[in-house]
Formats: sequence, structure tokens, C-alpha cells
Amino acid sequence: MRVGLLTGGGDCPGLNAVIRAVVQRVVNGGGSCVGILEGWRGLVRGMSRELDISETDEIIAKGGTILGSSRTNPFKSAATDVPALQANFEALNLDALVAIGGDDTLGVAYRLHKDFHMPMVGIPKTIDNDLMVTDFTFGFDTAINIVTEAVDRLRTTTESHRRIMVVETMGRHAGWIACFAGIAVAADYILVPEMPINITHLIEVLKRRRSEGKNYGIVIVSEGAQFPDKGLVSLESERDAFGHLRLGGVGNAVAKIVEDETGFETRCVVLGHIQRGGPPSAADRVLATRLGLAAGHLILQKRFGTMVALSGTRIIETTLGEGVAASKTLDLTYYNEAAAFFQ
Ligand code: F6P
Repeated sequence: MRVGLLTGGGDCPGLNAVIRAVVQRVVNGGGSCVGILEGWRGLVRGMSRELDISETDEIIAKGGTILGSSRTNPFKSAATDVPALQANFEALNLDALVAIGGDDTLGVAYRLHKDFHMPMVGIPKTIDNDLMVTDFTFGFDTAINIVTEAVDRLRTTTESHRRIMVVETMGRHAGWIACFAGIAVAADYILVPEMPINITHLIEVLKRRRSEGKNYGIVIVSEGAQFPDKGLVSLESERDAFGHLRLGGVGNAVAKIVEDETGFETRCVVLGHIQRGGPPSAADRVLATRLGLAAGHLILQKRFGTMVALSGTRIIETTLGEGVAASKTLDLTYYNEAAAFFQ
């Protein structure tokens, strides 16, 4: 069995660990693996490289993806790109494809399986943790550790200057990163897309903390957080091939209001792509490895149209359709636990 692997969408720590595990399982099961370069773009253009155990065995600690990634959507120019993609699939003599990605990449795999009967198995990944069915995605744990370390560093300079530090995190339309990292750093306030920004309450909490003797403050803002009367704050008006805006800027908007309303000197730090960089945490390496082995098994069993997922502590089989049915926004139970510290 000849199996293609591709990584699409925003990269995240753990992609190489998952590639390593799929290759291990497939090759040990008698198959061979081909890496498709740069996500769906590589299948549309026919860009690939052979993968074997010896060259993937050492990559577990490496961030990013050895295959490269892109936000290519073959259904954007479906009349030309889908036939090209199918022709390259045939030319590479592939029997199956493992698509490793978030909702966009897996959504393409789902349509290719449903409408064109292409043999697909999906593996969920994203720092945003916004995929259905799977409890957590690899990449997320590393991202919240990066934010935690960054804020631990920001805390000392913020305190020295008696400032408020507004820290903007990624996460797109889900507040998982902001909420989990916010809990981990004992943030004075956390703003997430799932709850409209209540600026009056934020100001009241920050002033109260100051009057109680805490001479600095940390506010975590998810890039998708919104003021009730305004839309998303974005860096460009143009959307990508999947219709997404490039989010960013809400942290600065919040910082300006905080400084104006409180009189406390305020700064904003946008952590940006640093949250996706560097080696994966141990937890992400383990999760990625378990998902990769399970996906390799599904491929060898020819269980196409499926996706692997984490449910509790177990790796389960689900369908691509269920995986991409909707986005998984922040479970507000977590937010309420975080908010117990800034009522
Ligand atoms: O989906 C992962 C993510 O990092 C989001 O949190 C963020 O909004 C987006 O990707 C950034 O995308 P890009 O790398 O294309 O700027």
C-alpha cells in the first residue's frame, strides 16, 4: 500500500511527531509513504518526496513540518485544481492519503472523499484546539506553554513599571489558548471570542486590584475577542482561500481604552506566530504519536473517510464529516473557572 501524507493550514508543534508515527506504522505494516509538499498545493502541483523510517525517526523534537504547509483550497478553483489533484494522486500511484490539518484541510479531505470517493484518513491538529470530536489537538499544549512562559517574563517588567500589560494571543474564533494560558498565569482578566468584551467590568476589576495593593496587571486577550458593538479586528480586509480574515489588533484597541479609562500606563504585546514555533511539548509529542499510529492503522485497514481523535484518554475513530461539522468554541466551564478570580 502506497500512502501519501500532507500537512495543511497553519503549522503547529507536533506535526513531525505525527508524520514519524504514520510512517512507522505504515512501513511496518508493509506499505510505503510519500510526503506531499506544502499541503493541498503539493497535490495540485505534483510536489512530493519519499518518506521512510530512517529519515523520519529523528524528527519528533523538530517544530514546524518537514513537508511544508500552505492554506491552499483546491475547491477555490475546483474546475482545474480538483482534476489536477486527482491526476497527481494517480501519477504518484497512491492508494490512500493521510491529511493532517485543521478544519480547512480536513474539510477538503472530507469533500474529496464524499464527492470524489478518494481514500482519505484525517488527523486533527491546530494550536487553536477548535476541532470537533477531539478533546484536545496537538499544538495546543505547546502554545499555552509558550504563552505562559512569555507572560512569566512580561510579568517582571510589567511590575517594575507598575503597568498594565495586555497580551494578545492567537486562537482565531475560539478562546482556548487565551483561557488556558490566562488561568496558568493568574491573569487579572481574560477576554475571549465567546464572551463579548465588557470594558466597564474590565476597568472596574483593574482599578479594584490597584486599590487593593496590586501595582500592576496582566490582561490576556484572544485575537478573536469582540467589542459588543463592533466586529472582528483584523489586519487586512482580504480573506484567505478558505474565507478567513487575518485577525489581530484587538489587544492594542483594549490597551488604549484601558490606559484612557484607568490612567494606568498600559502596553500591548502581540505574541503572534511565536505561539506556533519551536519544539513540541512532551504532551504534544505523545498525543501526536498516538494519533499518527492510530491513523496508520486505519489506513492499513482501508477505513477511509475516517478521522482519529482524542476522547478522554483514549484515541478513537470518528468520521471526517463529524470532525468538520462545526468549530469547537471554548467550553465556558473553563471560562467560569478562570473568571472566579476576576469577578
Ligand atoms: O489556526 C492557527 C492560527 O495560528 C490562528 O490562531 C491564527 O489566527 C492563524 O493561524 C494565523 O494564520 P497565518 O499563519 O496564516 O498568519
